[in-house]
Amino acid sequence: MAVGQRVGIAMILSIESSCDDSSIAITEIATKKLIYHKKISQELEHSKYGGVVPELASRLHAQALPAILSECEPWFSQLKAVAVTNAPGLAVTLIEGVIMAKALSIALSIPIIPVNHLKGHIYSLFIEREARFPATVLLVSGGHTQVIEVESLDTMRTVATTMDDSYGESFDKVAKMMGLGYPGGPLIERLAREGDAKRFAFTVPLWQSPLIAFSYSGLKNQVRLAVEAASEVDYPDIAAAFQTTATAHLIQKLKKYFKAHPPKRFAIVGGASANRYLREQLEILLAPHGTELLLADLKFCSDNAAMIGRVAVEHFLRGEYTDHRSIAVSPRCNL
Ligand code: KG4
Ligand code: ZN
Repeated sequence: MAVGQRVGIAMILSIESSCDDSSIAITEIATKKLIYHKKISQELEHSKYGGVVPELASRLHAQALPAILSECEPWFSQLKAVAVTNAPGLAVTLIEGVIMAKALSIALSIPIIPVNHLKGHIYSLFIEREARFPATVLLVSGGHTQVIEVESLDTMRTVATTMDDSYGESFDKVAKMMGLGYPGGPLIERLAREGDAKRFAFTVPLWQSPLIAFSYSGLKNQVRLAVEAASEVDYPDIAAAFQTTATAHLIQKLKKYFKAHPPKRFAIVGGASANRYLREQLEILLAPHGTELLLADLKFCSDNAAMIGRVAVEHFLRGEYTDHRSIAVSPRCNL
C-alpha cells in the first residue's frame, strides 16, 4: 500500500496544464488534505525563447502528464472525480489536461469537475484549510493582473484589470530584453536586489489617471529604451528601478481603491505574488487599515494542481460536476 493510501477514503485527482507547468494532485475530499502533489515545470525548455512557446508546451505536457499519472495508480480505486483546469489558458495546453481527464473519467467511471484556473489561484490560499471570505484579492500572474472582490466560490467580481500586459508578464519581457531567460520574475527580483532603484527614473503608469486599472506596456517601453542605451553593468539598477515602478503602480491603484472600499481581508495570489518586494510594499500599505493579509504558501503561488484540487473539492461537495462528453476548453474565459 502506498504512503498515505487508506482504503475507502474518497479522493479527487486534479490536473493542471493551462500554461507551462504539468501538475497532478490528489486531495482527500472530507479533510481537504493534500495526499499527493507533483509538478514538472518546463522553464528550462522555454528559457531559450524568452517566453512560453505554446506548441512546445503542449508536447511537453503530453510527455510529463502520463509520467506523473503513473505514480497515482495506487489511489485510482479511491477517486470519486477527476478535476481539470479548462479555462482560461493556452488552448493547446489546456486540451492536454482535458484529454487526460476524459480518459480517466471513462476508464474509472467517475465524473469530471471543470475548474477555472483563476479560482484555483484564489483557493491556493486555502490548501489543507477552510476558505475564508469575503476577501479582496490581487491576482498577479503571467496572464492576469486583477483585483477581485470574492464573496464565495461562485460570487467573484473583477473590479480592476490590466489594459495591456500583466505584472508578471512585464517581468518576463524585461528579463528577455536583458537576455536573462524565462521566467523573468525571479530573475529580475534577484538582479534588483543588487541594484540602485534611484539611478533610473521611470514614470509610474497611469499616475495622473483617475482610472483604477493597470497598464504595463508604457513602462516596458521605457525600460526597453534604457536597456538599449545601457551596458550590462547597468542591468541591476534598471531591474531595481523597473521592479520599484511596476510595484508602485499596483500600490498606488490599490490605495485609491481602498479609499472607497477599505478591505477587512486582503489576499495576493498568482505566480508573481512570490515577489518579496511586492509583499513588503503591500504590508506597508495595509498596516494603517488593520487589514488581515492572506498569502499562499510560496510553493503554491505559481501554477499547480493542488489549488485546482482544492477548488474541485468545493464543487464536488455542491454536486457540481459533468461528464466526458460535456466538458469544453475555454481559453479566454475569465472568472
Ligand atoms: O501563476 P503563474 O505560475 O502562471 C500564470 O498563470 O500566468 O505565474 C507566472 C508568472 C510569470 O510571469 C513569472 O515571471 C511571474 O509569475 N513571477 C514573478 C515572480 N515569480 C514568478 N514575477 C515577479 N516576481 C517574482 N518573484
Ligand atoms: Zn496561473
